[in-house]
Parts: sequence; C-alpha cells; structure tokens
Amino acid sequence: MYTFRDFVLLPGRSDIEPSEVDLAVNLTAKVRLNLPLVSSPMDTVTEADMAIALARQGGIGIIHRNMSIEEQVENVKRVKRAESFIIRDVVTISPSQKVSVAFDLMVKKSISGLPVVDGREKLVGILTRRDVNFADKKEQVRAVMTSDVKVAAAEVTIEEAKQIMHHHRVEKLPVVDKDKKLLGLITIKDIYSRERNSLASRDSEERLLVGASVSPFDLERAKALEKYVDILVSDVAHFHNLNVIESAKKMTKAVSTELIVGNIGTSEATKDVISALDGRVAAIRAGVGSGSICITSEVTKAGAPTLFAVAQIAETLAEEGVNVPIIADGGIRAAGDAALALAAGASCVMMGNVFAGCTESPGGLIKIGGKYYKPYRGMGSSSSRQKRFALDRYNQPAKGIAEGVEGVVPYRGDVQTVVEEFVGGLRAAFGYSGAASISDLWTKARFGAVSAAGVDELRPHNIILPGEEKI
Ligand code: XMP
Repeated sequence: MYTFRDFVLLPGRSDIEPSEVDLAVNLTAKVRLNLPLVSSPMDTVTEADMAIALARQGGIGIIHRNMSIEEQVENVKRVKRAESFIIRDVVTISPSQKVSVAFDLMVKKSISGLPVVDGREKLVGILTRRDVNFADKKEQVRAVMTSDVKVAAAEVTIEEAKQIMHHHRVEKLPVVDKDKKLLGLITIKDIYSRERNSLASRDSEERLLVGASVSPFDLERAKALEKYVDILVSDVAHFHNLNVIESAKKMTKAVSTELIVGNIGTSEATKDVISALDGRVAAIRAGVGSGSICITSEVTKAGAPTLFAVAQIAETLAEEGVNVPIIADGGIRAAGDAALALAAGASCVMMGNVFAGCTESPGGLIKIGGKYYKPYRGMGSSSSRQKRFALDRYNQPAKGIAEGVEGVVPYRGDVQTVVEEFVGGLRAAFGYSGAASISDLWTKARFGAVSAAGVDELRPHNIILPGEEKI
C-alpha cells in the first residue's frame, strides 16, 4: 500500500506551458467542471457560501447532511438563487399594495426592483428603489410604478438582453410571454457576475452547480433534494457493505438525479459496486482513512489510502471496460498531492482540510497566539456526531465510537485566493509531466517511488526558515 508521500511525478518531455493546461473535466457524465476541485460534504467545510464561492471558480461544493432535510434543501436553493441568467422565482408585488409593503419587501429580500403583476400574473409595471425612496408610503404601488416597462421574450439570448438593457438604460428586464404573463427577470448584476466569473460551473439556466450528500438509506432526503440539486453524493465511510450497496441501488432507481457512490478503496469493491449498480454509478469517491481528521485506521486498522484507492479503482474499471469518473477523497494537502491523484486516474479531487481554512467555510475565525485559524472536524468526531443527522456515515455497531478528530486549521483567505494558488501549482505539475489536460496526464504521467530518506531530501532542509529560529 502506498500514499501521497511515497511518490513523485517524474519530469517528462514537455512542450506544454502551465498557462496552456486545460483543467476542465467531467465530474460525472452529465456534470462538467472547469476545475477538478470538489469541497467535502462536512459541517465545517461546505454550506451555501462555500458552494457558491467554489462554483464561481469552476469547481463544485457538496452541501453536508449534518442538518435537517429542510435546512439542506434551503442551502441548495441558496446556491441556485445566487446567480442565473433568468431568475425564475421572481418576487413580485400587486398594483393595489401600499408602497410601504413594497419597501419592506425590498429591504427584507435585499432586492432593488419588483415587477408589478395583476391577479393573473400579467406584468403591469416595475417598481424600483428610485420609485419608492421618497414616495408617500401610504400610496398604492400603481401610483408610483413605471408603467412603460421594457421587456424581453422567453427566447432572449444574453447578448440580446444586454443590448436591450443598454439601449433603454435599464438594469432589470422582465421576461414575458405573448400575453405579457411574467416568466422571469434578468438583472444587470447577474450579467456582470457571469462576465466576472467566466469559468464558473453553471447549469443550463446559468445557475451555479451544486451537489448534496445523502446517506444511501435516506430516500426521503434524496427525494427532497432531487428537484434542486445537480448531483447527489453518497456519504458513507464504507460503501462496500452489502446493505449500503442495496440501498444505493434502490435510491438510483427512485431518484432521477445522478448518484456519486463511495467511499471505496479496493478492486473487489469496484467490481461489486459496478455490477450491483449496473450503469447507475455517476462517479466513485475513492479513499478510506486518509482524511486529515480521520482516525478510522487508527481505531480499526481498516483503510485504503487515497492514492492507492484511486489506482486500484482506475485499474479495475479499465479491466472491466467501464468508464466511470473517480474522485480522490482525503489526504490532499497541496497541489502536488492532487496532481498525483489525477495522474493515478482520478478526474477530480475532494478536499476538506484545504477548504476548511477559507473565509467561506462555516464557523468564524479563531485567534490563537496572534495567528488566525478556522475550526475543522471529522464527520465522525464526537462533536459532529452530537448533531446526529450524519451518524449513519459509520457502521451500525460503531455508531458510538468516534472515527474522527476535531481541531483548527490555519486561516488561508477566501476561496478565490486559495483556488488560484492551488491551480497555479496544478498547472506547473502538468507542465513538468508534459500533459495538456487531465486525460493527457492519465497516459503521460510516470511515477517515481521515494524512499524515507528521499522524503526528507525533497523538502527544504539545512536551512532555518523564518519563524523557526531558535537561538
Ligand atoms: P481531508 O484530508 O481533506 O479529508 O481533510 C476529507 C475527507 O475525509 C473524510 N472524512 C472522514 N473520514 N473520519 C474519517 O475516517 C471522519 O470523521 C471523517 N470526516 C470526513 C471524507 O471523505 C472527507 O471528504
């Protein structure tokens, strides 16, 4: 068995500059990402803020499940509402309402304009902040609204919408059908955001992509999420358990959203999962026990380190002639580890520790000795288990035993900064390997084994680094 510490990527012949590397990849057959980065479904890592920030960079966040079904659905909806070309669940007001009601609605929902619709959802005007700021709050909306509304038809493209908004100098453009029934709303804010985040992971309606984790036993949760979420991710420590596989099989038949299965780490598990779920495996989460907060292997001596797991699964899938993406999950500390995981056959990497240190992860900053940290804990840690929603991540008899630890990780800054630095390292690794893309890396990468002495030599040595001086 081997781990990320045991190998390096051998430098290979290369005509690839890091800036030319294309890191876009399929997370599943249906979900395409611009970066191979996925945030772990953990309660100190991924809620809506993290998922929004990571999708804007080109990756995807998986909302954790250590919360009620309603809370998890609301987190997913928040990501979906964060941006879209055409907003579908538009907040509207009726012409006979008081201006005070419209004003309160704008403040409460943090919006600056309300389409005005009559009882049959027909657009009759638009009300913006400018209309209400100094208006008599007791007046009716119809007295202060703009009645000559510029609109777009359902088939409008982004370029056409921009032209209409520019021509009429408006920042909001209601979308209507031929009878003027309101279908949606386009805002300048969303168009700007789209241009600023050109690599963002988006669905067909230009909303950000988001995933959610579920227990394979929790069909009710999966059913509640399926309408809103782009991908469901099985969240159990040991998927190669026949009850778990059987439940996941039922879930894939009952739910229309694709299911990523895992975690597994052996060739036998790959074969069993592929044959039991027959064509319904969207992707595989690979790695058991490598996570930085895991004590599974310490407690049980069971484990399949992530790099080993990826290689096993990739080899088995190739032998079986099955094309299913692999997600390397756990133990990734820096871009070099991610490059090794991708080189071994993974399509994406899932990270908890790296993202837990970001501004957008749940939990505030903690100051210790003049430095800033953020909380990070395993989903099997005792404090995480106290919330109880994710208890069934672990084996039934082991529910009382902690399989994770809790602590803090250094604060790293916002997701954008962390991802930019990480991607810089990944691109450089691809440059050394001479690979222009992830699939190119799968064929071109060559591994070199490192001895214990080598591990020492391949990091800074014989130098006293700033902050480490002891006189
Ligand atoms: P990193 O190394 O990024 O790993 O912190 C995150 C991954 O670790 C898994 N995970 C756990 N594994 N006990 C475990 O054995 C736990 O309490 C635990 N919590 C999370 C999970 O796969 C995650 O993506």
